[in-house]
Amino acid sequence: MPLCIRRAQYLDTYGIGQLLSLTFYPWAQWFAPLMDLLVALDVQSRFNEANSHYLCVIALWQGQVVGTVEITVRTMAIGRVPYLFNLAVHPRWRGQGIGTKLLQTCVEMIVPWHFPYLYLHVLASNKIAQKLYYRSGFECCQVEKRWLRPDRLLLRKSLYCPL
Ligand SMILES: CC(C)(COP(=O)(O)OP(=O)(O)OC[C@H]1O[C@@H](n2cnc3c(N)ncnc32)[C@H](O)[C@@H]1OP(=O)(O)O)[C@@H](O)C(=O)NCCC(=O)NCCS
Repeated sequence: MPLCIRRAQYLDTYGIGQLLSLTFYPWAQWFAPLMDLLVALDVQSRFNEANSHYLCVIALWQGQVVGTVEITVRTMAIGRVPYLFNLAVHPRWRGQGIGTKLLQTCVEMIVPWHFPYLYLHVLASNKIAQKLYYRSGFECCQVEKRWLRPDRLLLRKSLYCPL
């Protein structure tokens, strides 16, 4: 069965929660079922907002969520802009182009929102994700030095020529 990449539905949110919990809260895996549920509830809250500028795309393999990414319109210092977050691919599935496909798909889906740029933050130390973003057409527009927290980069990608 081939990999399927599609817009997520409400019923997918528990699988998304499991993947985000494993990816971003690995220290919490000793109480994984509870953490998975908490993260899934957080994702569900975004589905429930009836926000026309919210998108979640998933990669599915045999019914299992192996990749996910979300975009919403967020108010930042630069104004209201589309903002990408929670890009994650299951550790067993990394390095096979799934992250790249998720990015391509979600960027194509938000072109009709008619914003000039898509933004995201990435930790300055996260070289693997940066490589993926730069190869996918993102550019660094700001380096953010933060008190007692790791430095991060603000990246953006033009949506006028998304591919
Ligand atoms: C970042 C992430 C989403 C990439 O997903 P992926 O499916 O592995 O991405 P791709 O297979 O499309 O690979 C993208 C690039 O990263 C490189 N890459 C992927 N895994 C790598 C690894 N373990 N070590 C070194 N490079 C790696 C690939 O080689 C590829 O670059 P290349 O084709 O030019 O060589 C995934 O590593 C992940 O979930 N990381 C943890 C969560 C995270 O950091 N999210 C981003 C937050 S801003």
